[in-house]
Amino acid sequence: MNKTILCIGAGYVGGPTMAVIADNCPDYKVIVVDINADRIAAWQSDKLPIYEPGLDEVVKRARGRNLFFSTDVFGGIKEADIIFVSVHTPTKTFGAGAGKAANLQYWEKTARDIVEHADRDKIVIEKSTLPVRTAEAMHRILQSNDKGLNFEVISNPEFMAEGTAVDDLQNPDRVLIGAMETSSGQKALQAIVDIYKNWVPEEKIKTTNVWSSELSKLVSNAMLAQRISSVNSISALCEKTDANIVEVSGAMGLDSRIGPKFLNASVGFGGSCFKKDILNLVYLCEFYGLPEVASYWEQVVLMNEYQERRFVQKIVDRMFNTVAGKKIALFGFAFKANTGDTRESPAIYISKLLLEEQGQLAIHDPEALDNAAIDLKDVEGDYTFEEDPYEAAKGAHAIAILTEWKHFCDLDFERLYHSMQKPAFIFDGRNILDHKRLHKIGFNVYPLGQKALSHLEK
Ligand code: NAD
Ligand code: UGA
Repeated sequence: MNKTILCIGAGYVGGPTMAVIADNCPDYKVIVVDINADRIAAWQSDKLPIYEPGLDEVVKRARGRNLFFSTDVFGGIKEADIIFVSVHTPTKTFGAGAGKAANLQYWEKTARDIVEHADRDKIVIEKSTLPVRTAEAMHRILQSNDKGLNFEVISNPEFMAEGTAVDDLQNPDRVLIGAMETSSGQKALQAIVDIYKNWVPEEKIKTTNVWSSELSKLVSNAMLAQRISSVNSISALCEKTDANIVEVSGAMGLDSRIGPKFLNASVGFGGSCFKKDILNLVYLCEFYGLPEVASYWEQVVLMNEYQERRFVQKIVDRMFNTVAGKKIALFGFAFKANTGDTRESPAIYISKLLLEEQGQLAIHDPEALDNAAIDLKDVEGDYTFEEDPYEAAKGAHAIAILTEWKHFCDLDFERLYHSMQKPAFIFDGRNILDHKRLHKIGFNVYPLGQKALSHLEK
């Protein structure tokens, strides 16, 4: 074996990232460790802890050959030459910066573990998303060792999206690697470039200084989320003017400077990172005395919350100003299609608002029902989870589409319609259905940012 790579944190990023590295770099031994023994056991089993298309195959190819999962964090630190740190960095919920700043306690704990258990020089890589200048603190903690060891801190943020993680990792738009501008920093940077060179074309491997790399990650997420909030804001204007958001996005996207991707209006963006990373950016701008910049970016999150509330308000308004005691089938709970992840899913907030209105919810999702049950466990109200979409819709007054799962389009809507209360409503929060067809069947159809197709209103 060439070198040993350790990854601390076997989550949504650590697991798939290391599986793809091991798969493409048979000369490296890759060990993934976590303090969560259940998670590690799942990585070692046939039922992986996360659902990602193509991941099973990659893990099966490399596991036991040069990919290993373990709870032995300290042993891994001793053995490895290169240590990726991929622990979570959630929004702080206490003390200074609560609600915005990143909680770096898990991150700092790993730095202290590395200092304590390392017995030779190591390269430590920031894989987690971190505030700009975290590498400085990391370096100080690591260099505080009294063993005369040298640690190089490299920033190598991850840009994969859930649901397409394996493909994104296998064919990335770019791999970003930032290092200190010292000769030892540049040498460490080359060691990381050498790993990615095994399968990523060199022109896609972008090297920068460490601060640019850290900040590029936060700003990339903020820019992506800003596109969605921009389109969602215009979806509200479309509903007032009979313009159609799909046509407007399509027309905008034809401008090669704008481009067609990431312009789909929705019930709002979710996921563990967009909101947390934008709020972290807002906090950093406030910290550095830039209130105008902070409030500019904060608006992206506020617009997202508005869009979630607006969707619920539309359901209540259109269903004769009350959903109390009415069954509503929620189709989709994951924050996006092709994942079972529900972190910060708009479905959580929308469910809570509908339950406050005393709606009866039947929640269906092909992958996310276990997580949905955890998200709603302390929430009072009348809700059930249904594996079968037809059961969910039976006797319902409305269906609301919250996740863009493709197979929702293939459901038998005639059958669904006939099993529902009349008038039957569909609120398509992802604009994925054939609205004209549904209207013909008899549904009152409310897409996002498009004219309603209703039998009740002219
Ligand atoms: P996650 O919560 O799924 O995984 C983090 C793991 O770290 C957990 O399993 C936890 O038990 C483990 N951990 C925490 N402290 C530890 C310690 N001291 N020793 C060993 N293990 C420890 O988080 P995630 O979604 O994988 O995200 C990780 C980081 O990557 C975050 O900073 C996130 O912003 C960033 N990121 C996430 C995504 C994504 O799609 N989820 C994409 C790009 C970047
Ligand atoms: C996002 C980024 O796309 C990744 O590059 C980044 O690495 C990751 O965050 C991270 O740092 O965690 P992810 O959150 O997994 O990835 O998924 P996205 O595809 O970005 O979707 C985020 C949310 O935006 C979803 O709720 C999705 O439904 C929504 N969305 C996306 C829209 O509402 N409209 C769109 O046009 C696109």
